[in-house]
Amino acid sequence: MSSKQHELSETLTDNLVNFNNLHEMLTQYGQQHVLQHWSHLNSQEQSNLTAQLSGIDLAELASLVNGQDEDTDFGALARRASSPPAVRADGSGADWSPVQARERGERALRNGELGAVIVAGGQGTRLGFDQPKGMFPIGPVSGRTLFQFFADRLLAVNEKYGCRIPLYIMTSDATDQETRKYFAANENLGIPAEDLYIFKQGVMPAVDAATGKLLMQSTSSLALSPDGHGGTVSALHGCGCLADAAKRGIQHLAYIQVDNPLAHLCEPELIGHHLMAASEMTTQVVQKRHPTEKVGNVVLVDGQVQIIEYSDLPESAAEATHEDGSLKLWAGNIAVHLFNLDFLQRVVGQADSLPFHRALKKVPFCDDRGQLVTPAEPNATKFERFIFDLLPIANNAFVVESRASEAFAPVKNANGAETDTPNTAKKAIVDLHRHWLEEAGLCVDQGVQVEINPRLALKVSDLPKKIATNQRIDTDRYFDTQLES
Ligand code: UTP
Repeated sequence: MSSKQHELSETLTDNLVNFNNLHEMLTQYGQQHVLQHWSHLNSQEQSNLTAQLSGIDLAELASLVNGQDEDTDFGALARRASSPPAVRADGSGADWSPVQARERGERALRNGELGAVIVAGGQGTRLGFDQPKGMFPIGPVSGRTLFQFFADRLLAVNEKYGCRIPLYIMTSDATDQETRKYFAANENLGIPAEDLYIFKQGVMPAVDAATGKLLMQSTSSLALSPDGHGGTVSALHGCGCLADAAKRGIQHLAYIQVDNPLAHLCEPELIGHHLMAASEMTTQVVQKRHPTEKVGNVVLVDGQVQIIEYSDLPESAAEATHEDGSLKLWAGNIAVHLFNLDFLQRVVGQADSLPFHRALKKVPFCDDRGQLVTPAEPNATKFERFIFDLLPIANNAFVVESRASEAFAPVKNANGAETDTPNTAKKAIVDLHRHWLEEAGLCVDQGVQVEINPRLALKVSDLPKKIATNQRIDTDRYFDTQLES
């Protein structure tokens, strides 16, 4: 036998062994259908599929499919739930004042204690935008993208406090390449290359909602999705970002999601509250607009701060009020968190055992004949971990209320939906910035769109020094780093 023939025969034997092993392992869990096109795959495709399968914990998946983890009695939990320890938007609820908190936070920024994390790995299916959501042009006048909003904000904070905040951006298979290309093509949006890290999160397979069978995206690839923002800790650890932050002397990571242009990334007052409460994880919330609003409820249960999803909260608990008529469970999650780096390093192992949450979604799949099917209705269960499930294991977890008009304008749905669309977010930005300009003495005509770059003002009190008062604004205007633009 020639050496070439010998090599070929070895490869074929390896492939057969590989196939038999995989088949045996998959059969234990009733998932052997994923190998039905094996004999038609080339060796590259076979090894890709093998790699995907070996990254999956089939036993864990089987228990998720069987719902073995779903034993939380949310009714009972909700009955024990009360308001979490919080500083309210008017400054009440803490032993320190908002001014003290701000000064404390400013000190931490000047000392270089902060790093920033933006999670941008979601598939953004509801928005229906064909690029990563971070590239969505959200600036109502400027057309700046969500990524630009946060980059400008970070640069403004760096400039104001003389610090260099490293930015860690989490992507996924769905968003990684385009995000990298976008930053590279735009000079990293002004962020020094040595302070920018783009890293990818893990994946979870999607299963057929009716049968629990693994869905295939093609004959040689599973339908995989990002593993949820709860995958952030493992991914930060895996890519070396936690170690990098520690090496830089970072003590706290400010976390936001890419889809809220009003998110206060590295805001001094929030940082200060976190520090003064000696909290390991602090979460910013807004007062719910109505009892059953579709936001997570931040509550205290058995001494632990945690979030009960709106879908899990019984209506009676959602509607319960104090004697003065105010809601008992008032705190709505906006997914802005601060973490102690020590805490994240301590829970790296535990983060892998956070619970999975289920979502019913439309996932295109390859059928038995190898044809791609695009479902009209949700057909698949996706499993995701949520970052807020770290709250109950954080010491002194703390809650800081902000006003929704100042801190929360999520971009979730396509225009036309009732809430959380690009149009509602743009309106919120214009309303807030109009209010700032009016406070600063300018007169903005009705219907005029205004937008302020954070490099000109991070908050209303930054404005008067810079903008001449008594001006009338009668056309749409983007206030950049100049007084006039
Ligand atoms: P959502 O849960 O709203 O998901 O993510 P999404 O992907 O943006 O949108 P839909 O549900 O498909 O319509 C909230 C934030 O968490 C990030 C998203 O990028 C967004 O910033 N995220 C979500 C991740 O980074 N990874 C994930 O696996 C899920």
